[in-house]
Amino acid sequence: MPSKPLYPAYLPTRPDGPSVPIAVPFFEADEPARRANPAKPSLLKAGVTAINVTPRIGTEIRGVQISELSKEGLDELALLAAERGVVVFRDQDFADIGFERQLEIARHYGPLHKHPTMGFPKGTSSEFHVVYADENSGNLRSLLGPRTTYDLWHIDQTFTANIPSTTFFWVLEIPEAGGGDTAFASLTAAYEALSPAFRETLHSLKLRHTSASIGEVRRVGAERAYAEAINATHPLVIKHPVTGKPSLFVSPTIAHAVDGFLPEESEALLSFLNNHIRSLDFGCRLKWEKGSVVIWDQRSVAHTAIPDFKDHERRHMVRMIPYGVKPEPYSK
Ligand SMILES: [Fe+2]
Repeated sequence: MPSKPLYPAYLPTRPDGPSVPIAVPFFEADEPARRANPAKPSLLKAGVTAINVTPRIGTEIRGVQISELSKEGLDELALLAAERGVVVFRDQDFADIGFERQLEIARHYGPLHKHPTMGFPKGTSSEFHVVYADENSGNLRSLLGPRTTYDLWHIDQTFTANIPSTTFFWVLEIPEAGGGDTAFASLTAAYEALSPAFRETLHSLKLRHTSASIGEVRRVGAERAYAEAINATHPLVIKHPVTGKPSLFVSPTIAHAVDGFLPEESEALLSFLNNHIRSLDFGCRLKWEKGSVVIWDQRSVAHTAIPDFKDHERRHMVRMIPYGVKPEPYSK
């Protein structure tokens, strides 16, 4: 293992320490994908290859730099992410274009989530979320403690009225012995797999989402996590704001209860749905390569880290999360 990180400027810092979760009051959000040309001429130019990861989710793109896209190209990227759930760009220079340009591109999609606890590069702000593991700082396994498995399906930060949209995640350094992939599940495909009769029973339901997630409870304890929590209620089946398609909007570590249900009823339904979305039928698993940037649409895709890399190895990633609109219920 190299003794020094490849990207020391991106090591996580938090000079003022963690804060409590930050409320985001409702606002009228822009959805850049709505103004995109459906043919995507600024993104999918001659020489660009776009290959399905699976028929249901994911497109892998080669031959274009995100950093060179025009505003129209960035709009088209949001549309492609809405349509395909996840877009992985290979061989990108994105990690090397600097903080300001990275911010400018991510902010094209909306105001960015300010994470209350994750570290950010020195001289930047909590709009950068550095995901970092090495021999000193540990990894997701050490945060969560002993478990049989460590998959932790969720949608990021769904506990506010406006919810995350076109999210950027890029790699700076990959574990030497491999691993640390990220898995994604199409919540539209998960919805479509259900019977019409069962879907109908879900349409009128709402879920309660909380910032007191499993990770936060583990970090500060249940009592404090719930006392400081920010909460929101969203429809269980939402209408995607760009495609209009239904999405089974479950976020297993964050959406903890069905509004109006008794605890046993809620637990039974969420146990089924949370397990249902994990099926390989709906998902894909992306392997990180040097220069990979993954962009996904949080309204129709859940994800999980796969912390299977060796203890003490370095894995260094950065994420940015723009907010989109407040989700609306799906109705046929
Ligand atoms: Fe996440």
